[in-house]
Amino acid sequence: MARLSWGLIGGGEGSQIGPAHRLGALADGHFSLEAAAPDHRPEIGRAYAQRLGVATDRAYGDWREMLAGERDRPDRLDLVTVATPNSTHFEITKNFIEAGFNVLCEKPMTVTVEEGEEIVRIAEKAGRICAVNYCYSAYPMVRQARAMVQNGDLGHVRLVVTSFSHGHHADAADADNPRVRWRYDPAMAGVSGQFADCGIHALHMASFICNDEVESLSADFVSTIASRALEDDAMVNFRMRKGTVGRLWTSSVAIGRQHGFDIQVFGETGGFRWASEQPNQLIYTPLGGRTQIMEKGESGLYDEAKRLSRVAIAHPEGFPLAVANIYCDIADVIRGEARTGLPARQMACDPSPLCTRPSPLRKRQGNGWTRGHQCSADTAGQSSAAMQPEPARSGAQRCGMGTAGSRGRGPAVRWLPRPGRWLSR
Ligand SMILES: NC(=O)c1ccc[n+]([C@@H]2O[C@H](COP(=O)([O-])OP(=O)(O)OC[C@H]3O[C@@H](n4cnc5c(N)ncnc54)[C@H](O)[C@@H]3O)[C@@H](O)[C@H]2O)c1
Repeated sequence: MARLSWGLIGGGEGSQIGPAHRLGALADGHFSLEAAAPDHRPEIGRAYAQRLGVATDRAYGDWREMLAGERDRPDRLDLVTVATPNSTHFEITKNFIEAGFNVLCEKPMTVTVEEGEEIVRIAEKAGRICAVNYCYSAYPMVRQARAMVQNGDLGHVRLVVTSFSHGHHADAADADNPRVRWRYDPAMAGVSGQFADCGIHALHMASFICNDEVESLSADFVSTIASRALEDDAMVNFRMRKGTVGRLWTSSVAIGRQHGFDIQVFGETGGFRWASEQPNQLIYTPLGGRTQIMEKGESGLYDEAKRLSRVAIAHPEGFPLAVANIYCDIADVIRGEARTGLPARQMACDPSPLCTRPSPLRKRQGNGWTRGHQCSADTAGQSSAAMQPEPARSGAQRCGMGTAGSRGRGPAVRWLPRPGRWLSR
């Protein structure tokens, strides 16, 4: 099978997510790196691209140069990954899709609802993919969790509790660290800091595992380090379309938590827990039964989990291979193949890591809960593109949660649910 041709924008040397993309894209032989503009410093970017094996004439100083150099080549790129700071995603993604490229964009896809919806329209019109890298959803045991919910193993899901909190931005004196700084700078990050960075993964995970959508929410955003213009801690309560209640905490000042992403799902007939620091296990308890540890690679798992398990049971697989699973799914869609659990034509209607309908979360209305809209699955399914794009799933961006509290010096936004007062768009 011929390799697909891949280009990378951002993800330069020393970046956080760059290595996961490089390892992930190349892991299964689906892609080869043919072009790159990996750094905001042109010369450093060109040199690094060449060290990664990119030919001199395809090692670019910035994304505009790359677009100009790549758009008319006969050997066009099959996929372009955008792994730059958040506020640049829209412009880069839009321009590459309009030029006919498929794009895998880092989360959050955009920093406003309007931009996200524009990307959806553009990708539909161009018949191109815009996937979003919600890579945690590609761990085998997360796919197992989703399949269990879909197969009714938990009954109706009553409650989801999730957190994605770490302490790596807890040092107030670290403000000038370039990898930290942009995350709290509205010009680079948009309207949300920690929620767009980590909380968004948790919100997506809840939707993905429950095969449901967040319909309304309330939130408390706070900058615990007063110099930050955007929040570094947030607590979000949400309700999902099928009636599930959700609780989400995200923080970057939780000293002692390393990579604290976990999710618990409680249904009528069972519950389970998955945590990113022990990604090979799903801890499952049936109603009235004993707690079981389900292990990646063991027999009896659903096909959706089996197919993503590369090495034998009890052998660890980690984050770059979860990203590799995203690239496998994308490669299949580019080649027109469908895979278990993520049939390409239906992906448009699934809250999958690769595509989904526009987020239900909209601008904040009044001081209560925020309710969103539903996108027609029919409309989404009509596209000739195998996948529909995903606008940013950040509740912060969707409902403007960041606007007041994020710039304040404390918990300026504190919206409490009022029974019977669910707000419409
Ligand atoms: N999916 C995930 O799990 C995950 C994890 C981390 C980061 N991310 C996302 O990835 C993106 C990058 O985050 P990061 O942590 O790697 O940031 P980072 O600050 O560590 O690295 C950013 C990289 O982008 C380059 N860059 C900046 N502007 C550029 C431009 N205009 N053109 C080309 N290159 C440019 C920088 O030189 C650097 O190499 C963000 O959107 C972030 O939200 C996703």
